Amino acid sequence: MITVKEIKANVADEMTLFEEKFKESMKSDVALLDKITHYIIKRKGKQMRPLFVFLTAKALNGSAKEATYTAASLIELSHTASLVHDDVVDDANERRGFFSVNALWKNKIAVLVGDFLLARGLMISVETNQHKLLEIVSNAVQEMAEGELLQLEKARKLDITEEVYFEIIRQKTASLIASCCAAGAASVSEDPEVIAKMKTFGELVGLAFQIKDDIFDYGSSEKIGKPTGNDIRERKMTLPLIYTLKNSDKATRKTLINIVKNHNEEPKKVRQAIKLVVDSGGVQYAHKKMMELKDEALLQIKDIEDNDAKKALIGLVEYTVNREK
Ligand code: IPE
Ligand code: IPE
Ligand code: MG
Ligand code: MG
Repeated sequence: MITVKEIKANVADEMTLFEEKFKESMKSDVALLDKITHYIIKRKGKQMRPLFVFLTAKALNGSAKEATYTAASLIELSHTASLVHDDVVDDANERRGFFSVNALWKNKIAVLVGDFLLARGLMISVETNQHKLLEIVSNAVQEMAEGELLQLEKARKLDITEEVYFEIIRQKTASLIASCCAAGAASVSEDPEVIAKMKTFGELVGLAFQIKDDIFDYGSSEKIGKPTGNDIRERKMTLPLIYTLKNSDKATRKTLINIVKNHNEEPKKVRQAIKLVVDSGGVQYAHKKMMELKDEALLQIKDIEDNDAKKALIGLVEYTVNREK
């Protein structure tokens, strides 16, 4: 199987130039803001979204264009903003193996930094006159906020079905990854069918991506660089838990509901709930669903002519489900 290194080698020049542009796009004359954006840049993530943008463009067209770079920056800015905001919403103090922005500078500042990043994304797109790109990504950013709110609403009621879960993750995560592939395609092609197909591909990958993230929450924190057990603490009902609640015996169900409802702040109880879910096959089920979505995603791109970028793109999809952080 192709390694991450080999995947990245396909777009090494593009990623180097992207990183320069991305850094530039975050600059500010306000000293505090500049300090925080520096902090963020130093602790960069996996950069999967820009990789999807560039690999899609190159798989379809052989090379990236100016518009591909703007797309990558706009999307990574939106993603970064969403993480800064998400850690406020989730009250999480760790991100990418370090303190989160809210942990170091408090919520007020984190909210404003997220706003700044979103606005910078809008600016660079307007400056380069990229209306189509703005349409694709604004739509995703809107959906992300809606998805996070739907999730909060459901956390209050604890009545979430698998169907609602998929709607939440489609909105809060898959929409942005869909926009990577749609925008990557739109940067090199005007064919609406091609753009739509790549959007569907990205959406399926994005669903698998979030299921993987939700599975991480049932594992160990050290490896992934962010807290685990957080979802139960936040009463976030994700696929492993939803499956277990639906398919286990009455006693297990009762114990789980009681923990999520009344003891979600107690680490020992949260660990007990995690163990119950794992032992009931909840994680295994989520894994199976994730693999099905991955296969469905790969079907979408089977007709793209074979080339190195396409191979790397397939590799990135495999990495999405096999990654360890
Ligand atoms: C985390 O995304 C947020 C989710 C949508 C689950 P990533 O796992 O891509 O975060 P970084 O950018 O690599 O830190
Ligand atoms: C994903 O949700 C965050 C966004 C889509 C903005 P999570 O809350 O599960 O993400 P992590 O686990 O904190 O990265
Ligand atoms: Mg979170
Ligand atoms: Mg999570």
